[in-house]
Amino acid sequence: MITTNMVTTNMVTTNMVINNMIDEMEKKPKQYKIAVLAGDGIGPEVMTEALKVLEAISRKYSLDFSYTEALVGGAAYEKYQSHLPEFTLNTCRNSDAILFGSVGGPVDEQLNEKWKGVEVNSLLSLRKHFGLFANLRPVRLYPQLASSSTLRSDIATNGFDILIVRELTGGIYFGQPKGREGAGDSEKAYDTMVYNRMEITRIAKIAFDAALRRKRVVHSVDKANVLTTMVFWREVVEEVAKQYPEVSYEPIYVDNAAMQLTKRPSDFDVMLCGNMFGDILSDEAAAIAGSIGLLPSASLSEKGFGMYEPSGGSAPDIAGKGLANPIAQILSAAMMLRYSFGLNSAADDIETAVDILISQGKILTPDLGGNNNTSEVGTAITQNIMQLTDYAD
Ligand code: IPM
Ligand code: MG
Repeated sequence: MITTNMVTTNMVTTNMVINNMIDEMEKKPKQYKIAVLAGDGIGPEVMTEALKVLEAISRKYSLDFSYTEALVGGAAYEKYQSHLPEFTLNTCRNSDAILFGSVGGPVDEQLNEKWKGVEVNSLLSLRKHFGLFANLRPVRLYPQLASSSTLRSDIATNGFDILIVRELTGGIYFGQPKGREGAGDSEKAYDTMVYNRMEITRIAKIAFDAALRRKRVVHSVDKANVLTTMVFWREVVEEVAKQYPEVSYEPIYVDNAAMQLTKRPSDFDVMLCGNMFGDILSDEAAAIAGSIGLLPSASLSEKGFGMYEPSGGSAPDIAGKGLANPIAQILSAAMMLRYSFGLNSAADDIETAVDILISQGKILTPDLGGNNNTSEVGTAITQNIMQLTDYAD
C-alpha cells in the first residue's frame, strides 16, 4: 500500500515537474537566429550600429536574437581563399535570416586576387543559392533632406515615396550563355538577357501585391521598343495586371523612367524592374533621395527566407573613418524584423526612431550635411528607441 502511494505521489510530482518545464519552455521567447555577414569596406562599421539597435529592440520586447558572424567577400578571401566559404554558407543555411553588410574593394585593386569577381562569387551566389528573387528597395525623400537631394528644389519639396521591386535572380546578370572568346579584333564577350514566364509572373505579383498596400500604382520598367526579352516582359506583366483591377498599371521605357524620376518622382509608387534596370534606377533613386546611405533592401525567396542589406556598396574610400551613414543598415535590420520575423511593432519603432533623427536634423553623417560619425548616429537612433519605450510606458 505504502509503496503504491509513494509511487503515485512520485508520479504526480514528476508530472508536475514536467508540466512546469513545459510552461517554462512556452514562456521562453522564441530564438531568432541571425547570420551576420558584415563583409568589406564600411560593412563592419555600419553593422555594429545595426546590432546596437537590435540589442535595444531585444531589451524592449524581450526578444531573443542570436547572432552568428561569418566572413564574406574580400574579408573571407584573406582567411579562406574563398569569397563565400562553406562555413559562411552553412551559417546562413542554419539561420532564420541573413543580415548582410557589403562586399567589394577599391576600384584600382579590382584585378588583385582578393577582389577579382568578389561581388559575383559572394553576393550574387548568395542571392542565387537561396532563390532570393524579390528585391524590395523602398526610397523616400524626407522633406528635411531636400537640400541633400540632387533634385531641383521645387521638385524636391514635393518629396516622394517609391518602392522599387527588382527581380534579383534572373535577367542579364545570370542568363546563359555568358562568356568571352577569340583574340585580337575578333575577341568578344557576351551576356544573355533571358526571362521566362514564371520569373516575370512571380515578381510582377510581388509588385502588384505591394501596390495594394500603398498608393495602388505600378510602373513596369522595360525596353520593349528594342529587346525581345522586354516585349515578353511587358506581355506577361500585362496579364498579371489584369488580375489587379484596383491597381493602376503603366509600362514605361527605362530611359524615360530614368528621366521622369528626376522630373516628377512623386508620380511613382511601385516601380517593377528586371535585374539590371532595377540596379541602375535604385542608384538614381538614392541620389534624388539625398544619399545612398539611407536605402535599405530586402531580398526574399518564395519560401519567405530573406537577406537584408543596404542598397549601396562597400565605399572603400571612406571605410574605417567613421564617416559612413549607418541608416541603410539599420533600416535593413528593421525590414528583417518585419518580413522574416513578423515583428511589426519592433520594425515600426526603428523606422520611427530614424524618422525622428532625420526630422530633428541635429545628428547626421556628412553625406547628409552633418558632422557626426557613424557611431553617434547609431547611438542616437538607439536612444530614440528607448524614448519611444518611455512614451509607451
Ligand atoms: C546592388 C549592387 C550589386 C548589384 C553589386 C554589388 C553586384 O550594385 O545590390 O545594387 O549589382 O546587384
Ligand atoms: Mg547597385
